[in-house]
Amino acid sequence: MPAPVYLDYAATTPVDPRVFEAMRPYWLEDWGNPSSVYAVGRRARRALDSARDRTAQVLNCRANEIIFTGCGSESDNLAIKGSAVALAEQRGWKHVVTSGIEHHAVLHACDWLERHLGFEITRIGVDELGRVDPGVVAEAVRPDTAVVSIMYANNEIGTIEPIAEIARAVKSKNPSTVVHTDAVQAGGLLPLDVQALGVDSLALSGHKFYAPKGVGLLYVRRGTPLVHLLSGGGQERGIRAGTENVAYIVGMTTALELAYAEHDQRVAHVSRLRDRLSSAITSSISGTRLTGHPTQRMPNSASFAIDGADGESLLLNLDQEGIYASSGSACTSGTLEISHVLKALGLPESEARGSLRLTTGVRTTDADIDRLLEILPAIVERVREVTPSLVS
Ligand SMILES: Cc1ncc(COP(=O)(O)O)c(C=O)c1O
Repeated sequence: MPAPVYLDYAATTPVDPRVFEAMRPYWLEDWGNPSSVYAVGRRARRALDSARDRTAQVLNCRANEIIFTGCGSESDNLAIKGSAVALAEQRGWKHVVTSGIEHHAVLHACDWLERHLGFEITRIGVDELGRVDPGVVAEAVRPDTAVVSIMYANNEIGTIEPIAEIARAVKSKNPSTVVHTDAVQAGGLLPLDVQALGVDSLALSGHKFYAPKGVGLLYVRRGTPLVHLLSGGGQERGIRAGTENVAYIVGMTTALELAYAEHDQRVAHVSRLRDRLSSAITSSISGTRLTGHPTQRMPNSASFAIDGADGESLLLNLDQEGIYASSGSACTSGTLEISHVLKALGLPESEARGSLRLTTGVRTTDADIDRLLEILPAIVERVREVTPSLVS
């Protein structure tokens, strides 16, 4: 059996060996609690402070605007619930705007505000390419809109949203509305200059750019209303209690720096391989189309609707051949429901059921793409045969 082919970098990435090496001392030598006053703690504190400074350089912000968290989901929850509750308390504002194609970390945080605190949520639609229209967002903003949360790039279809334009449109309608963006998929591949983006908060997750799972961050612009969710000690300026995971934070910082130091080569590599996938699949397999935006999309993302072929069956068949891919997002795979993202694009059911997401990464090779292209047409044919009821 040939070596496995991993084409699911949007789900997670392996840890870069250089990142692993950068983390090692903070388990074995400088393992102290950064709040301790003695030397081993002070060394951990220095590493933490330096990680914050280095991260701020990449994001073009101040060090004290960075809050380290446990994952992207936590960052999104903190931003959305934290700012929504703060503005509800300060001004009585209880309205939030988001899009229908957000990750569940955002959608469910909004559902929670609606269910438990009586917020009103406006979930705006997207066009057939998955783009959010800044004008539609601005129309939805009201004098009592506390938060607008729109993702930077979509995890299922790769579409990039016009975040800077959206932020400008929101601020011109209501300058005090907090603009949050879930940049978890964008991290490592798209520009993260928060001044250029014009957002008030931005969420990232380390495991999407070759750092470990279980570490994330939230940028919060100075002066942004935010209450904490996790109570306890005064870590992270009292906004996120819990002894800091110094090794992982150093790892995420190193991974972020490497991603942007090597940005152009990485983008060229992942997009070249992605383009090979897209053109070969759409031209060689009938009834197949690219989902998401043809150009305004993540450089590593190829996503397809394959008419009449059940996505889960495609994944299982690929897995048997040692090829790892995804159908919709990792968390919606395994259920028979059509993903909310594909529904929002307005795809016919027989196409939406046959969704396949292939995402490339720094370790993907031409041989990996060759193997996928060699095997996929026969798998699609087989799957189409056993799912006759779905053929339109
Ligand atoms: C767009 C988006 N937001 C948020 C998350 C959640 O990140 P984490 O897995 O670090 O909680 C993901 C993970 O897949 C994602 O793709």
